[in-house]
Amino acid sequence: MKKYKAKANSNIALIKYWGKANEDLIIPNNNSLSMTLDNLYTETIVNFIDNDKDLFFLDNELQDYKETAKISKYIDIFRNLASSDKRVEIHSFNYVPTAAGLASSASGFAALSCALNSLFELNYDKKNLTKLARLGSGSASRSIYGGFVEWYKGNDHDTSYAEKIDDGNFDIAMIILVLNEEKKEISSRVAMKQTVETSPLYPSFVESAKKDIKNMKKAIKDRDFDSIGKIAEHNAMKMHATMLGANPPILYFKEESIKAINKVNELRKMGFSVYYTMDAGPNVKLIVKKSEINKIVEQLKEFENIIISNIGNDAIVEEIV
Ligand code: DP6
Repeated sequence: MKKYKAKANSNIALIKYWGKANEDLIIPNNNSLSMTLDNLYTETIVNFIDNDKDLFFLDNELQDYKETAKISKYIDIFRNLASSDKRVEIHSFNYVPTAAGLASSASGFAALSCALNSLFELNYDKKNLTKLARLGSGSASRSIYGGFVEWYKGNDHDTSYAEKIDDGNFDIAMIILVLNEEKKEISSRVAMKQTVETSPLYPSFVESAKKDIKNMKKAIKDRDFDSIGKIAEHNAMKMHATMLGANPPILYFKEESIKAINKVNELRKMGFSVYYTMDAGPNVKLIVKKSEINKIVEQLKEFENIIISNIGNDAIVEEIV
Protein backbone atom coordinates (compact mmCIF):
# COMPACT_ATOMS: atom_id res chain seq x y z
CA MET A 1 0.00 0.00 0.00
CA LYS A 2 1.46 3.32 -1.06
CA LYS A 3 1.78 6.05 1.55
CA TYR A 4 3.03 9.58 1.01
CA LYS A 5 4.16 12.22 3.47
CA ALA A 6 4.23 15.89 2.53
CA LYS A 7 5.56 18.84 4.48
CA ALA A 8 4.64 22.44 3.71
CA ASN A 9 5.68 25.54 5.55
CA SER A 10 3.31 28.29 6.49
CA ASN A 11 3.66 31.78 5.08
CA ILE A 12 2.94 35.29 6.26
CA ALA A 13 1.86 37.85 3.69
CA LEU A 14 3.77 41.11 3.52
CA ILE A 15 1.26 42.31 0.93
CA LYS A 16 -2.09 40.87 1.95
CA TYR A 17 -4.69 38.89 0.06
CA TRP A 18 -8.05 40.11 1.26
CA GLY A 19 -11.19 39.54 -0.79
CA LYS A 20 -12.22 37.32 -3.66
CA ALA A 21 -13.33 38.09 -7.20
CA ASN A 22 -14.58 34.49 -7.49
CA GLU A 23 -15.49 32.61 -4.33
CA ASP A 24 -15.74 29.11 -5.83
CA LEU A 25 -12.39 29.23 -7.58
CA ILE A 26 -10.77 31.42 -4.90
CA ILE A 27 -9.60 34.06 -7.36
CA PRO A 28 -8.46 37.12 -5.36
CA ASN A 29 -8.99 40.78 -6.17
CA ASN A 30 -5.30 41.65 -5.82
CA ASN A 31 -1.87 40.06 -6.06
CA SER A 32 -0.28 39.20 -2.73
CA LEU A 33 3.28 38.54 -1.64
CA SER A 34 4.52 36.46 1.28
CA MET A 35 7.47 35.16 3.18
CA THR A 36 7.56 31.39 3.81
CA LEU A 37 8.45 30.44 7.39
CA ASP A 38 10.55 27.41 8.35
CA ASN A 39 9.26 27.03 11.89
CA LEU A 40 5.53 26.77 11.28
CA TYR A 41 4.46 23.88 9.13
CA THR A 42 2.08 21.01 8.47
CA GLU A 43 2.97 17.39 7.81
CA THR A 44 0.37 15.28 6.07
CA ILE A 45 0.38 11.53 5.43
CA VAL A 46 -2.06 9.99 2.96
CA ASN A 47 -2.94 6.50 1.74
CA PHE A 48 -5.89 4.82 0.07
CA ILE A 49 -8.37 2.91 2.23
CA ASP A 50 -10.97 0.30 1.54
CA ASN A 51 -13.85 2.27 3.01
CA ASP A 52 -16.97 4.06 1.80
CA LYS A 53 -15.78 7.44 3.07
CA ASP A 54 -12.55 9.35 3.64
CA LEU A 55 -11.04 9.43 7.13
CA PHE A 56 -9.43 12.64 8.32
CA PHE A 57 -7.27 12.80 11.46
CA LEU A 58 -5.94 16.16 12.64
CA ASP A 59 -3.21 15.92 15.27
CA ASN A 60 -4.27 12.29 15.86
CA GLU A 61 -7.93 13.15 16.40
CA LEU A 62 -10.53 11.73 14.03
CA GLN A 63 -12.48 14.71 12.68
CA ASP A 64 -16.26 14.90 12.73
CA TYR A 65 -18.64 14.65 9.80
CA LYS A 66 -18.50 18.40 9.03
CA GLU A 67 -14.71 18.70 8.88
CA THR A 68 -14.40 15.44 6.94
CA ALA A 69 -17.02 16.60 4.42
CA LYS A 70 -14.96 19.74 3.70
CA ILE A 71 -11.82 17.70 3.11
CA SER A 72 -13.70 15.10 1.03
CA LYS A 73 -14.96 17.86 -1.23
CA TYR A 74 -11.38 18.97 -1.73
CA ILE A 75 -10.17 15.40 -2.39
CA ASP A 76 -12.94 15.12 -5.02
CA ILE A 77 -10.93 17.57 -7.16
CA PHE A 78 -8.05 15.08 -7.22
CA ARG A 79 -10.38 12.09 -7.67
CA ASN A 80 -11.90 13.83 -10.70
CA LEU A 81 -8.52 14.68 -12.18
CA ALA A 82 -7.38 11.07 -11.75
CA SER A 83 -10.76 9.54 -12.72
CA SER A 84 -10.67 7.60 -9.49
CA ASP A 85 -13.22 6.87 -6.78
CA LYS A 86 -10.73 5.66 -4.17
CA ARG A 87 -11.16 6.85 -0.56
CA VAL A 88 -8.30 8.36 1.37
CA GLU A 89 -7.07 8.26 4.96
CA ILE A 90 -5.36 11.50 5.99
CA HIS A 91 -3.23 12.17 9.02
CA SER A 92 -2.34 15.80 9.34
CA PHE A 93 -0.08 17.31 12.00
CA ASN A 94 -0.04 21.04 12.46
CA TYR A 95 3.07 22.57 13.92
CA VAL A 96 1.20 25.87 13.99
CA PRO A 97 -1.38 27.04 16.55
CA THR A 98 -4.54 26.24 14.56
CA ALA A 99 -6.80 29.13 13.43
CA ALA A 100 -5.11 31.83 15.52
CA GLY A 101 -4.26 33.91 12.47
CA LEU A 102 -1.10 31.89 12.03
CA ALA A 103 -2.09 30.57 8.66
CA SER A 104 -2.52 26.86 9.41
CA SER A 105 -4.84 26.60 6.42
CA ALA A 106 -1.98 27.76 4.19
CA SER A 107 0.46 25.02 5.20
CA GLY A 108 -2.43 22.55 5.61
CA PHE A 109 -3.78 22.75 2.08
CA ALA A 110 -0.31 23.10 0.56
CA ALA A 111 0.80 19.86 2.25
CA LEU A 112 -2.44 18.09 1.37
CA SER A 113 -2.28 19.08 -2.30
CA CYS A 114 1.32 17.81 -2.58
CA ALA A 115 0.45 14.54 -0.84
CA LEU A 116 -2.67 13.91 -2.97
CA ASN A 117 -0.78 14.79 -6.16
CA SER A 118 1.58 11.88 -5.43
CA LEU A 119 -1.07 9.49 -4.13
CA PHE A 120 -3.27 9.88 -7.21
CA GLU A 121 -0.14 9.82 -9.44
CA LEU A 122 -1.07 13.10 -11.08
CA ASN A 123 2.52 14.37 -11.28
CA TYR A 124 1.62 18.03 -11.51
CA ASP A 125 4.51 20.47 -11.35
CA LYS A 126 4.83 23.14 -8.67
CA LYS A 127 3.11 25.86 -10.67
CA ASN A 128 0.04 23.65 -11.14
CA LEU A 129 0.19 22.61 -7.49
CA THR A 130 -0.10 26.27 -6.46
CA LYS A 131 -3.42 26.37 -8.31
CA LEU A 132 -4.70 23.18 -6.67
CA ALA A 133 -3.59 24.38 -3.22
CA ARG A 134 -5.40 27.67 -3.94
CA LEU A 135 -8.69 25.79 -4.34
CA GLY A 136 -8.37 24.71 -0.69
CA SER A 137 -7.38 28.08 0.73
CA GLY A 138 -6.08 31.11 -1.14
CA SER A 139 -2.97 31.64 0.95
CA ALA A 140 -2.04 27.95 0.53
CA SER A 141 -1.04 28.68 -3.07
CA ARG A 142 1.96 30.62 -1.72
CA SER A 143 3.07 27.79 0.61
CA ILE A 144 4.09 25.50 -2.24
CA TYR A 145 7.28 27.56 -2.49
CA GLY A 146 9.90 28.74 -0.05
CA GLY A 147 11.47 32.18 0.06
CA PHE A 148 9.39 35.16 -1.06
CA VAL A 149 6.37 34.23 -3.13
CA GLU A 150 3.93 36.23 -5.21
CA TRP A 151 0.41 34.98 -5.95
CA TYR A 152 -0.79 36.49 -9.22
CA LYS A 153 -4.50 37.14 -8.99
CA GLY A 154 -5.16 36.17 -12.61
CA ASN A 155 -8.74 35.88 -13.80
CA ASP A 156 -9.48 32.15 -13.96
CA HIS A 157 -8.21 28.85 -12.57
CA ASP A 158 -5.31 28.74 -14.98
CA THR A 159 -4.01 32.27 -14.57
CA SER A 160 -4.29 32.50 -10.76
CA TYR A 161 -1.07 30.90 -9.51
CA ALA A 162 1.92 31.58 -7.28
CA GLU A 163 5.61 31.88 -8.08
CA LYS A 164 8.81 32.21 -6.08
CA ILE A 165 10.28 35.65 -6.65
CA ASP A 166 13.32 35.42 -4.36
CA ASP A 167 15.12 32.81 -2.22
CA GLY A 168 15.17 35.25 0.67
CA ASN A 169 18.79 34.57 1.32
CA PHE A 170 19.55 37.75 3.27
CA ASP A 171 19.36 39.26 6.73
CA ILE A 172 15.62 38.90 7.42
CA ALA A 173 13.51 36.76 9.76
CA MET A 174 10.25 36.86 11.70
CA ILE A 175 9.35 36.86 15.38
CA ILE A 176 5.75 35.91 16.08
CA LEU A 177 4.18 37.15 19.28
CA VAL A 178 1.51 34.56 20.05
CA LEU A 179 -0.87 36.65 22.08
CA ASN A 180 -3.95 34.52 21.86
CA GLU A 181 -4.26 30.92 20.69
CA GLU A 182 -8.03 30.74 20.78
CA LYS A 183 -9.93 29.93 17.60
CA LYS A 184 -10.82 33.21 15.93
CA GLU A 185 -14.28 34.65 16.36
CA ILE A 186 -14.77 35.25 12.65
CA SER A 187 -12.94 33.24 9.97
CA SER A 188 -10.94 35.06 7.34
CA ARG A 189 -13.23 33.58 4.69
CA VAL A 190 -16.35 35.15 6.20
CA ALA A 191 -14.55 38.36 7.20
CA MET A 192 -13.17 39.04 3.73
CA LYS A 193 -16.59 38.48 2.14
CA GLN A 194 -18.16 40.92 4.59
CA THR A 195 -15.41 43.45 3.82
CA VAL A 196 -15.81 43.16 0.04
CA GLU A 197 -19.58 43.51 0.30
CA THR A 198 -19.87 46.32 2.81
CA SER A 199 -16.67 48.33 3.29
CA PRO A 200 -16.52 51.60 1.31
CA LEU A 201 -12.75 51.56 1.93
CA TYR A 202 -12.21 48.23 0.17
CA PRO A 203 -11.73 49.47 -3.43
CA SER A 204 -8.87 51.73 -2.40
CA PHE A 205 -7.16 48.84 -0.60
CA VAL A 206 -7.26 46.81 -3.82
CA GLU A 207 -6.07 49.75 -5.89
CA SER A 208 -3.19 50.65 -3.59
CA ALA A 209 -2.04 47.01 -3.40
CA LYS A 210 -0.75 47.34 -6.98
CA LYS A 211 1.77 49.97 -5.94
CA ASP A 212 2.62 48.07 -2.75
CA ILE A 213 3.43 44.94 -4.76
CA LYS A 214 5.67 46.87 -7.16
CA ASN A 215 7.51 48.68 -4.38
CA MET A 216 7.84 45.53 -2.27
CA LYS A 217 9.38 43.59 -5.15
CA LYS A 218 11.93 46.33 -5.67
CA ALA A 219 12.71 46.48 -1.95
CA ILE A 220 13.26 42.69 -1.82
CA LYS A 221 15.45 42.82 -4.92
CA ASP A 222 17.51 45.65 -3.42
CA ARG A 223 17.69 43.90 0.01
CA ASP A 224 16.30 47.15 1.39
CA PHE A 225 15.12 45.95 4.81
CA ASP A 226 13.56 49.22 5.97
CA SER A 227 11.48 49.60 2.83
CA ILE A 228 10.29 45.97 3.12
CA GLY A 229 9.21 46.63 6.71
CA LYS A 230 7.55 49.97 6.04
CA ILE A 231 5.58 48.77 3.02
CA ALA A 232 4.45 45.60 4.86
CA GLU A 233 3.35 47.53 7.93
CA HIS A 234 1.37 50.04 5.91
CA ASN A 235 -0.24 47.35 3.77
CA ALA A 236 -1.35 45.32 6.81
CA MET A 237 -2.89 48.33 8.51
CA LYS A 238 -4.70 49.29 5.30
CA MET A 239 -6.22 45.79 5.26
CA HIS A 240 -7.38 46.19 8.86
CA ALA A 241 -8.75 49.64 8.05
CA THR A 242 -10.96 48.14 5.32
CA MET A 243 -12.25 45.67 7.91
CA LEU A 244 -13.03 48.42 10.39
CA GLY A 245 -15.01 50.05 7.59
CA ALA A 246 -17.10 46.91 7.07
CA ASN A 247 -20.67 46.78 8.32
CA PRO A 248 -20.77 45.38 10.95
CA PRO A 249 -17.11 46.25 11.61
CA ILE A 250 -14.54 43.48 11.95
CA LEU A 251 -11.94 43.93 14.66
CA TYR A 252 -9.15 41.39 15.12
CA PHE A 253 -7.14 43.55 17.51
CA LYS A 254 -7.02 42.64 21.18
CA GLU A 255 -5.53 44.73 23.93
CA GLU A 256 -2.30 42.71 23.67
CA SER A 257 -2.07 43.44 19.92
CA ILE A 258 -2.00 47.19 20.57
CA LYS A 259 0.56 46.66 23.32
CA ALA A 260 2.75 44.72 20.89
CA ILE A 261 2.47 47.38 18.18
CA ASN A 262 3.43 50.10 20.67
CA LYS A 263 6.41 47.97 21.69
CA VAL A 264 7.59 47.70 18.07
CA ASN A 265 7.36 51.48 17.68
CA GLU A 266 9.35 51.88 20.88
CA LEU A 267 12.03 49.42 19.75
CA ARG A 268 12.35 51.29 16.48
CA LYS A 269 12.93 54.53 18.38
CA MET A 270 15.68 52.70 20.27
CA GLY A 271 17.38 52.01 16.94
CA PHE A 272 16.27 48.43 16.20
CA SER A 273 15.21 47.46 12.69
CA VAL A 274 11.77 46.03 13.40
CA TYR A 275 8.34 46.33 11.78
CA TYR A 276 5.03 44.54 12.33
CA THR A 277 2.31 42.87 10.37
CA MET A 278 -1.01 41.33 11.45
CA ASP A 279 -3.46 38.92 9.85
CA ALA A 280 -6.95 37.70 10.62
CA GLY A 281 -6.23 37.25 14.31
CA PRO A 282 -4.79 39.16 17.26
CA ASN A 283 -1.19 37.91 16.97
CA VAL A 284 1.50 40.33 15.90
CA LYS A 285 4.34 39.26 13.62
CA LEU A 286 7.61 41.16 13.73
CA ILE A 287 9.75 41.55 10.64
CA VAL A 288 13.31 41.60 11.95
CA LYS A 289 16.91 41.26 10.88
CA LYS A 290 18.27 37.76 11.59
CA SER A 291 21.39 39.38 13.01
CA GLU A 292 19.33 41.35 15.58
CA ILE A 293 17.07 38.51 16.80
CA ASN A 294 18.82 37.91 20.13
CA LYS A 295 18.94 41.57 21.04
CA ILE A 296 15.29 42.07 20.13
CA VAL A 297 14.12 38.95 22.00
CA GLU A 298 15.82 40.35 25.11
CA GLN A 299 13.53 43.37 24.80
CA LEU A 300 10.40 41.23 24.49
CA LYS A 301 10.43 39.70 27.98
CA GLU A 302 6.84 40.73 28.72
CA PHE A 303 5.62 38.50 25.86
CA GLU A 304 5.58 34.92 27.08
CA ASN A 305 4.91 33.02 23.91
CA ILE A 306 7.12 33.86 20.95
CA ILE A 307 8.09 31.90 17.87
CA ILE A 308 11.25 32.76 15.96
CA SER A 309 11.32 31.75 12.34
CA ASN A 310 13.69 32.01 9.42
CA ILE A 311 12.74 31.79 5.78
CA GLY A 312 11.39 28.35 4.86
CA ASN A 313 11.87 26.10 1.84
CA ASP A 314 9.57 24.68 -0.81
CA ALA A 315 6.98 22.06 0.17
CA ILE A 316 8.27 18.49 -0.17
CA VAL A 317 6.75 15.06 -0.54
CA GLU A 318 8.21 11.57 -0.10
CA GLU A 319 6.98 8.00 -0.23
CA ILE A 320 7.07 6.33 3.17
CA VAL A 321 6.58 2.77 4.39
C1 DP6 B 1 -5.18 37.83 6.29
O1 DP6 B 1 -6.16 32.11 2.65
O2 DP6 B 1 -7.16 31.86 4.95
O3 DP6 B 1 -3.92 35.83 6.08
O4 DP6 B 1 -8.88 31.73 0.74
O5 DP6 B 1 -10.83 32.05 2.23
O6 DP6 B 1 -9.18 30.23 2.71
P1 DP6 B 1 -9.41 31.62 2.13
O7 DP6 B 1 -8.61 32.64 3.05
P2 DP6 B 1 -7.13 32.59 3.65
O8 DP6 B 1 -6.91 34.16 3.92
C2 DP6 B 1 -5.70 34.68 4.32
C3 DP6 B 1 -5.85 36.11 4.66
C4 DP6 B 1 -4.66 36.77 5.33
C5 DP6 B 1 -3.78 37.48 4.31
C6 DP6 B 1 -2.87 36.62 3.46
O9 DP6 B 1 -2.44 35.54 3.89
O10 DP6 B 1 -2.57 37.08 2.35
